Amino acid sequence: MTPSRRLARLTTLACTVGVCFSLAKEAPMEIAILHDLTSGARPVEPDLFSLSIEQDRWLDWVGSTTRNDFFFNVLDNLQQLTGVPPRIRVGGKSQDVAYIDPNIQWASVSFAKPTPSMPYPEALVMRVGTRFYSSARFLPEKTQVVHGLNFASTDDMRGFFHLASIVNAFTSAEIRKAGIVLDAIEIGNEPDAYGTTSTLRNSSYDSSKYVTEWQTWAGNVLPIEQVYPEFKLKLWGGSLSRSSHNLTGWSPQALLDQGLLNSAAGERISTWVTMT
Ligand SMILES: *[C@@H]1O[C@H](CO)[C@@H](O)[C@H](O)[C@H]1NC(C)=O
Ligand SMILES: *[C@@H]1O[C@H](CO)[C@@H](O)[C@H](O)[C@H]1NC(C)=O
Repeated sequence: MTPSRRLARLTTLACTVGVCFSLAKEAPMEIAILHDLTSGARPVEPDLFSLSIEQDRWLDWVGSTTRNDFFFNVLDNLQQLTGVPPRIRVGGKSQDVAYIDPNIQWASVSFAKPTPSMPYPEALVMRVGTRFYSSARFLPEKTQVVHGLNFASTDDMRGFFHLASIVNAFTSAEIRKAGIVLDAIEIGNEPDAYGTTSTLRNSSYDSSKYVTEWQTWAGNVLPIEQVYPEFKLKLWGGSLSRSSHNLTGWSPQALLDQGLLNSAAGERISTWVTMT
């Protein structure tokens, strides 16, 4: 298909879902959104617009010793438009290189060297202290938060204490009074890429190894609930960067087929994330 035919087809496609745009060489893309609802339009969830924030710069966004008023104001403006605060997920690649460290108050982050194509690289390693998670108190009231946990290390002892630190932050009087809630814990980020685009595993790492690791690890970390019985943690599992859409390779159906849900920790999975 020629570029112009492809563009025409794309434009037709976009117009059918209510968005028309024009593209011109070296000109900004113009997007015209129809003012009136189309006949098939249905209401969307008020928190449809929510935010996923890379964990290594979380404190820059939310604030450490004091609230970041710019960020708070953005969230507050969104809430005024939608009626609810956006949900916040703190995680991403840096969650799998993050370690809890009782000698650190907030966070200590080592970044890779910036390059022109990657001016803000993700953390190579980060150490987080107990106050890192308490910074959720700077969010608008009633915000629902999902924090990521390092699964790649498969260190269940550290995972247990790391999770305790997250949960403990959400038991503080200030956070409770504000109705800010720890909605779920995301266990690992994009494990399908551990052995390909990172060195967290080697290329033989596959979905069945992931499922085996999950069942041991999450099963040893979840007993944290015996210490905090008021928390019944929901978990995010899978979190794949892409799907093979079949039973070989990495896909939600492959993980289900290999029994990811068949354990106490598996039963707690409330959300699957798959990018494509
Ligand atoms: C990949 O990692 C596994 C588990 O650590 C190891 O047993 C295996 O030998 C490694 N394979 C290669 C090709 O390095
Ligand atoms: C599964 O999907 C992958 C990636 O799309 C593909 O390479 C593979 O051949 C597929 N396997 C089967 C059995 O269809």
